[in-house]
Amino acid sequence: MLPYNIHHVAIAVHDLDETLATLKDQYTVEPMSRETVSEQGVEEAMIALGGSHLQILQPTDPDTPVGRFLARHGEGMHHVAFAVVDIEEALAHLAAHGATLIDETPRIGGGGHRIAFVHPRSMGGTLVELVEVHDG
Ligand code: CO
Repeated sequence: MLPYNIHHVAIAVHDLDETLATLKDQYTVEPMSRETVSEQGVEEAMIALGGSHLQILQPTDPDTPVGRFLARHGEGMHHVAFAVVDIEEALAHLAAHGATLIDETPRIGGGGHRIAFVHPRSMGGTLVELVEVHDG
């Protein structure tokens, strides 16, 4: 299930507007999209960088996965997302190789992509997201 790219690196923050202003000021980058994904309880912005993206996440409520992450860890890197061609094949491969899947089947994430999360205990304490991408 070799991932062919890092689709995005996600950073959890308290204040999305403030972080986007900082990124614009310090790194001269701006989001290409911004949306609320209510199923995940986040407002997210995507910044294109080369062939990959930086994703900035702000929880819509403290009682959400990202809200609880912020309460426990403070702001910081939340997950790394790998681009895969066939997400069902990737999930089957991971399960067969001992990974703990948070999502046994794909769901719809930001940008309408099919996504699935893999538990941090499976890979260096890092939450992994799979993103099915067909156009590279
Ligand atoms: Co993500």
